Parts: sequence; C-alpha cells; structure tokens
Amino acid sequence: MPYDTLLSPVTIGNLELPNRVMMAPLTRNRASQPGDVPSEMNALYYAQRASAGLIVTEATQVSRQGQGYWATPGMYSDAQEAGWKAIAGAVHARHGRIAQQLWHVGRVSHRLIQDGGAPPVAPSAIRARNTQVFVRNDDGSFGMIDADNPRALETNEIPGIVLQFVDAAHRAKRAGFDMIEVHAANGYLLHQFMATGTNHRTDDYGGSVENRLRLTIDVLEAVCGVMGANRVGIRVSPNFIGFDLQDDEADTSSLHLASELKRIGVAYLHLAEGDWAGGEPLTEDYRRALREAYDGSIILCGNYTAKQANQRIERGDADAVAFGRAYLANPDLVERIRANAPLNTPDESTFYGGAEKGYTDYPTLDEMPKT
Ligand SMILES: Cc1cc2nc3c(=O)[nH]c(=O)nc-3n(C[C@H](O)[C@H](O)[C@H](O)COP(=O)(O)O)c2cc1C
Repeated sequence: MPYDTLLSPVTIGNLELPNRVMMAPLTRNRASQPGDVPSEMNALYYAQRASAGLIVTEATQVSRQGQGYWATPGMYSDAQEAGWKAIAGAVHARHGRIAQQLWHVGRVSHRLIQDGGAPPVAPSAIRARNTQVFVRNDDGSFGMIDADNPRALETNEIPGIVLQFVDAAHRAKRAGFDMIEVHAANGYLLHQFMATGTNHRTDDYGGSVENRLRLTIDVLEAVCGVMGANRVGIRVSPNFIGFDLQDDEADTSSLHLASELKRIGVAYLHLAEGDWAGGEPLTEDYRRALREAYDGSIILCGNYTAKQANQRIERGDADAVAFGRAYLANPDLVERIRANAPLNTPDESTFYGGAEKGYTDYPTLDEMPKT
C-alpha cells in the first residue's frame, strides 16, 4: 500500500492512535446562539470524521475576553461544557479520539464581541494592522471589521489568563476529551507574547526569550497539572505571517520552547507550517534542530498530500500529519487515503459561518454517485 506508514498506528503521549492522519483544528463559526454553545450539528460534523487518528477541535475560546470571531464555541460556561461533552461522546461512540484546542485571541478581536464593549487585551497596546475579524453587525448581518485597538494586560492580570486556561481544561477533562491542545500559533495571544513585534513589555513577561515564553509555559504547566502532561499538546507556527505578527527571533524562541516542552513532558508539538498562507517554508535544518530539542511526538500540518505526509513520517521528521481543508471536505479522509481514492474539493464560500451546507453534507466515498 502506498501510504502504509501514514496509516500505521502510533502512540502520542499515552494515547494510542490507529493511524497518523489527524484532523487539523478548523474554525467554522457554527456554534449555536446565544452563548456560543456547541450543537448537535457540530457533534454530527465531528462524529463523521471519527476515523481520524486524532481529531483536534476548532479553536475554542477560554473566556469571552478570548473571543475574536462571531459564533466560535467557548469552554467557559456549563452549557458549552455540556455541548462539548455530547461531541466527545459522539466521537467516542464511533471509536474516535478527540483533543480540544484552547485559545485566547488577544488583540485579534473587536469590542463589538467583547463583554460590555471592552477593548481586547494584548501583551502591548499595539493594534494589528491589515487584520480583520468576523462580527455580527447590529442589523444582524455578518461582516469583517478591522481588529480593534487593544489595551496592554497589567502584570497582575496575567495569572488570571492562566486561570482561564485552567478552568477550560477542567471543563475539557470533565467533558471527556482525550487531550488538550494549547493554541500558541497563528498570531493569537500566546503567540503575541512570544513574538518580538507584539510584545514590548518591560516586566517579567517581556524582553528576553525566557520572559516572552513565560506565559505560554505557565499556561502549559498549568494545563498539564489538570490533564497530565502525556495528554497535552501545543500548536506553534514559527513561520506564520498573518495578523501583522512580526517575530525577529521566531526560530530561536521556538527551539527554546521545544526544550521546555521536553522538560515538562508535553505529549506533542503541532507545527502549523505557515507557507500554506504565504510564509517562508521551514528549512530542513530547522526541522532537524526541532527534532533534537524535543523528544515528544511532532505533528506537521500545512498543504500536505498523503504522499508527502507519508514521506515526512518515513524520513523521521514527523510522527503524524494533520490535514485541514482536506478533512473539512472529506469526512472519510482515512478511508480515501487507504483506497487511494480522489478527494472532494473544499468549498471556501462555506468555510466560516452558515449551517449544514459545506459542513455536514460532504459525501463519503460510499455516498458518492456511482458513474
Ligand atoms: C477554515 C479554516 C479554519 C481554521 N481554523 C483554525 C483553528 O481554529 N486553529 C488553528 O490552529 N488553525 C486553524 N486553521 C489552520 C489549519 O489548522 C491548517 O493549519 C491549515 O488549513 C493548513 O493545513 P491544510 O493545508 O491541510 O488545510 C484553519 C484553517 C482553515 C482553512
């Protein structure tokens, strides 16, 4: 079989996966309103994809303050926890495994979606230029709007950010998630703290690499305290170029982070490669250095075909590969890879917001019209 390695089992942390094809986190803006609560429709979507080695949920905000887009689900209310419990249950009923991606968007937000119209928070009061967020207008229509001016978090507020992640992690554990993925990628709060362009702080959370990584490490250690380190992963994106994020020390700091992950015993490092969205490709030297700095599982993601994924794993650069848009459009991606069958094409017009169309109605191979 051409994809034997990709389809072979692997253990990540202490979770056994039947294959190395993971579903990447995908924001779909379809949580039910009011309250950003996961719904039965969301449960069906994830259950349809249960043959993945591991599903990583869409980014899920740890608080209202951590929300940047309309109708993304949260994990800070009882109703949200119950909705997620039904989703984890639906995936488990189909013998799948599911990790919850926890995020705080930081400055990539707008006061229109913050509690009481408060400004979004960030490491420093620096607005993200050329950045838009998805909001619901007063007339009920949806649209994109420029990210707002954020305010800098006070030093004494930072433990509260860690607590937001801890509370959400307790909820995720109670809801039955197999793992938690801390979202430190793609220009959101933790990434904003790590990057030189967005973090101009002069306290213990800014300046040196150690200081800029402090919040991410505090969050990770605290989440590991809830779930156990062998059930926690982290997503990073050193070559991400969106949301006006500049980082002059991305390689150094991500390699330093990797050695900290080894110390903590974090189960996996999920590398969201930024070149699918216009970033420079990661060098082979960097990939090797990352492998050397960290001894847990490495998951790659970004524009992979099954063939390329299989090769990367065979070469020892990764333990598993996550697929985003291919998973969005192919609920039976694993079966299609096994059968070397063609893939459905994702419909970009239905990526964000809407209902079943472009969400739960992509056909499996068995459901395809026979020619
Ligand atoms: C519709 C859509 C939503 C996404 N949402 C998230 C998200 O919630 N969290 C995240 O870390 N990455 C998110 N991403 C990035 C994907 O996880 C992935 O890194 C990217 O799609 C590249 O992989 P692919 O080429 O296999 O699609 C999103 C991408 C898309 C297309």
